[in-house]
Amino acid sequence: MIPASVIEDIRYRCDIESVISSYVTLKRAGSNLKGLCPFHSEKTPSFTVYPGTQSYYCFGCGAGGDVINFVMRTENLDYVAAVETLAKRAGITLTDFDSNSGRPDGVSRSRVLQMNLEAAKFYRQMLFNDSVGGPGRKYFLDRGLSMAAIKRFGLGYSPPSGGSMLKHLRSLGFKEEEIRVAYFAGKNERGYYDYFRGRVMFPIIDVSGNVVAFGGRVLDDSKPKYLNTSDTPAFKKSKNMFALNYAKNSDAGYFILCEGYMDVITLHDAGFGMAVATLGTAITAEQARMMKKYTDRVVISYDSDEAGQKAANRAITLLEEAGIDAKVLRMQGAKDPDEYIKKYGADKFRELIEASRGKFEFMLDGIRGKYDISISDAKIKAISDVCSYIAGIDSSVERDIYIDKASREFSVDIKSIKADVEAKRKKRNYENSKKRKGELIRITSGIGDRINPDFAKQPKGARIEEAVLGMLFIRSEYFEREVDGKGLCEADFVTSLGKRLYSFASEQYINGGFNLGMLNERFTPDEVSRVHKMIADRNELSGNDEKSFDIYVRSMREESASAASGELSLEDILKRKRGETDN
Ligand code: CTP
Ligand code: MN
Repeated sequence: MIPASVIEDIRYRCDIESVISSYVTLKRAGSNLKGLCPFHSEKTPSFTVYPGTQSYYCFGCGAGGDVINFVMRTENLDYVAAVETLAKRAGITLTDFDSNSGRPDGVSRSRVLQMNLEAAKFYRQMLFNDSVGGPGRKYFLDRGLSMAAIKRFGLGYSPPSGGSMLKHLRSLGFKEEEIRVAYFAGKNERGYYDYFRGRVMFPIIDVSGNVVAFGGRVLDDSKPKYLNTSDTPAFKKSKNMFALNYAKNSDAGYFILCEGYMDVITLHDAGFGMAVATLGTAITAEQARMMKKYTDRVVISYDSDEAGQKAANRAITLLEEAGIDAKVLRMQGAKDPDEYIKKYGADKFRELIEASRGKFEFMLDGIRGKYDISISDAKIKAISDVCSYIAGIDSSVERDIYIDKASREFSVDIKSIKADVEAKRKKRNYENSKKRKGELIRITSGIGDRINPDFAKQPKGARIEEAVLGMLFIRSEYFEREVDGKGLCEADFVTSLGKRLYSFASEQYINGGFNLGMLNERFTPDEVSRVHKMIADRNELSGNDEKSFDIYVRSMREESASAASGELSLEDILKRKRGETDN
């Protein structure tokens, strides 16, 4: 099994939009993209790519999946080969991870936390050690960090030789296997070896002040640039953020969300103590909700390159779903906040924060960059794109505000924009209802459902089950949610496919991390497609909030309970047929 963290890494680094774009011509449609399906022949595009969930789904033929599944299908590869192909594309060496792929079991959270604390102290000692720490200190100072920042963030150094963490932790009584589980050692044929070597070290500290993990950066341009602690019994990448322990105490009233450790440290050093970063992955719903505990406003300050801007687009959606007012900061003349501040200073950066824009302006920026609107054809296309975007928004108040803005932006009569948006909405609604009807007929008649053969037996329950699973896959933290005082269990699910999906995903979730990519290993491409249909259906609707989730779980439980008692009534019917009655 390829470790979850590797799959997550690959899915993060291989943006689905750019991978699919090399096979299919995609056009923006609201926050999604559409194109002609590569898996069946069609004239009007029903193949949809969802950057928000990093998935695709074709409403025409039902093919759907994530980036791994897409490569499996188009290149006709098995799971491992597809993962290898994508890893290559992303510049990840799979063998790098092999030695660390063992599951962390049997080691307690507190043991790992103890090791982490000792390790943080040791790395810091190494940094300030006269004979070995020179290169580390030079690196930080060359990058313009103050001594205060180095101390405040507890930065350290793992020397290439002399000062082995493995040796140090062993001398404190930790066993090699424990040290490996905590990611301070790897293991190969020749035995255990130090995981971090010749790197400057960034400790990750949780909101309670525990050192939970480390990131280690090389001092030059060699690869991999960072090594990070993968999931351990004390750490989950998707549930922690860098510098949240400090930012939570800031009274700025908002957070600045960055991509890199260095960005955050430089920002704090320049007086922006509200900067945080994810740990080398796209922001997750859990992280959005973590931030929401402390603030209602987030300014996204990602790298200024295309990848950074795409990631910002995804982050807006996720943050807004968590109820956060998200804005995007636009930067010119520097690749990231760290570089910007060093070049132009804190005051200029403060101006950028003030000028940061909401999602509509951000989308407009993208369109301005794409079309030269002094040419009338291009202008028409641009307006059409903007109208598609507005048409995809459910709130009519929000739509009206954007219609007004668009009319001013393109100096076009507000009535024309409105009419165009309405026409696009009608078309959308019509297509959706057609899609639903077709599906309903297929499903209720039970024909053609070879992927989930149980569907026809209990169509109502199965449909509810699909909604629940769709929400679980969109918001994995629901795996932990209790409804009416009870967590979900396999028996709550209705069909055998549903039960299998739930038990696999929840098990992975509990064991340190589930991501959609992992389904490709256990389920057939068609079954994975079905999962993405569930996700696509939920994405089309709004309302994947906790309240809706609870309602669906309740009715799914009723359905599965009635299925259990339904078997009895079938017996009753047979009895009755034979002329036997109980009363
Ligand atoms: N990252 C990672 N592994 C890599 C590259 C990046 O885990 N091979 C994560 C790190 O958390 C890093 C973040 O992604 O902080 C952003 O990456 P990048 O912008 O490349 O790094 P910076 O922190 O900006 O590093 P630097 O400025 O030192 O190049
Ligand atoms: Mn950087």
